Amino acid sequence: MFAPSMTLFHNPASPFVRKVLVLLHETGQQDRVALETVLVTPVSPVTALNEGNPVGKIPALRLADGNLLHDSRVILDYFDHQHVGTPLIPRDGSARWRRLTLASMADGIMDAAVLVRYETALRPADKHWDSWLQEQRNKIRRTLAELEQDTIAELASHFDIAAISVACALGYLDLRHPDLRWRSSNPKLAAWYAEVSQRPSMLATQPPA
Ligand code: BEZ
Repeated sequence: MFAPSMTLFHNPASPFVRKVLVLLHETGQQDRVALETVLVTPVSPVTALNEGNPVGKIPALRLADGNLLHDSRVILDYFDHQHVGTPLIPRDGSARWRRLTLASMADGIMDAAVLVRYETALRPADKHWDSWLQEQRNKIRRTLAELEQDTIAELASHFDIAAISVACALGYLDLRHPDLRWRSSNPKLAAWYAEVSQRPSMLATQPPA
């Protein structure tokens, strides 16, 4: 067994990191990376993370040759070119653009959910910007509603970049925003998630409670 040749700068709560970990498991590449945990927030940057990564993104991937890749979309694409199975990001054609657009919807949920988490967990309560929080939550609700109405059959067809991204977004809502009770307005999504959350890749990458 070889030591991992790459380092993934990682936080176990990050849904963006989880997408990468799930793809690594789905493609049998999980032993290729060493995980380096980074406790970074918008008000506590980590100097080592900012080297070659001035925006301080996680996940970031240090390759064996020392080069650094970020963000999650780039790293996902990188690893999807490193295995011999069916690509989890379609290489071309309309499927590519559709699946990436579904993944972008999931990323939008994650963006809004992480911003709400930062605002509510890090900023003093008397400084919370309630109308901004409300609009971030509305983005999440609108996107969930569209996924519920239009995309369940597509998501259920295979566990690729689109499905991985939506599953990780829903997992993050469970972790940080149980108050949103997303299942009550999205029963089809809830049924789909109940199934995919039992995949070994999802179980192995569950965020800490
Ligand atoms: C979180 O603790 O919710 C979190 C940590 C890192 C990145 C994103 C979210």
